[in-house]
Amino acid sequence: MTSGSNLMIRLPMVIVFSFVLAACQRSAESEPVTQEEPSPPPAEVTPALEIAAPVEQQIDPASGLIIDTGWELVRGHCAACHSIKLVTQNRGSLETWESMIRWMQETQGLWQFDPATETAILNYLAKNYAPAASYRRAPLPPELRPQNSNAPP
Ligand code: HEC
Repeated sequence: MTSGSNLMIRLPMVIVFSFVLAACQRSAESEPVTQEEPSPPPAEVTPALEIAAPVEQQIDPASGLIIDTGWELVRGHCAACHSIKLVTQNRGSLETWESMIRWMQETQGLWQFDPATETAILNYLAKNYAPAASYRRAPLPPELRPQNSNAPP
């Protein structure tokens, strides 16, 4: 009797339990798989450099001259008496460069150029060594300069 009544209680419990279990399983199965939001296609990234990069400037490593039309003429004519650095350190408009050349021709023994050569040199200089807002460093503050008793304060 004891075992019979036990079974009478247990059986429905087992049945109910298995239903609950089955229901749980089904709900777990039917739970929608959360899909990740499809990420939007990456916006067209245009590298800034592509727009902003200036035409790459090439420098002749030996002279330091910017390589551009006429640079070899300048290398050939303008380094005979002084460092080519005197040229690359300077800036000027076409008129300024012309007046420097005239000054060297009148006072420093610079030779005359044929018109085509002179035009090519002046165009090269005026284009590549045009006046710039600032091309020399500011003077150092006095305490960072070497001692020089002859220099004005
Ligand atoms: C025949 C010699 C000679 C040649 C060639 C020559 N120069 Fe000069 N140049 C001089 C002399 C001398 C000076 C003065 C040097 C100094 O100040 O130490 C000078 C000075 C300069 C300066 C400095 C000007 C300043 O304001 O300080 C520039 C820039 C210059 N030359 C550019 C040129 C260029 C560009 C050419 C080629 C077209 C050239 N030179 C070719 C003799 C020459």
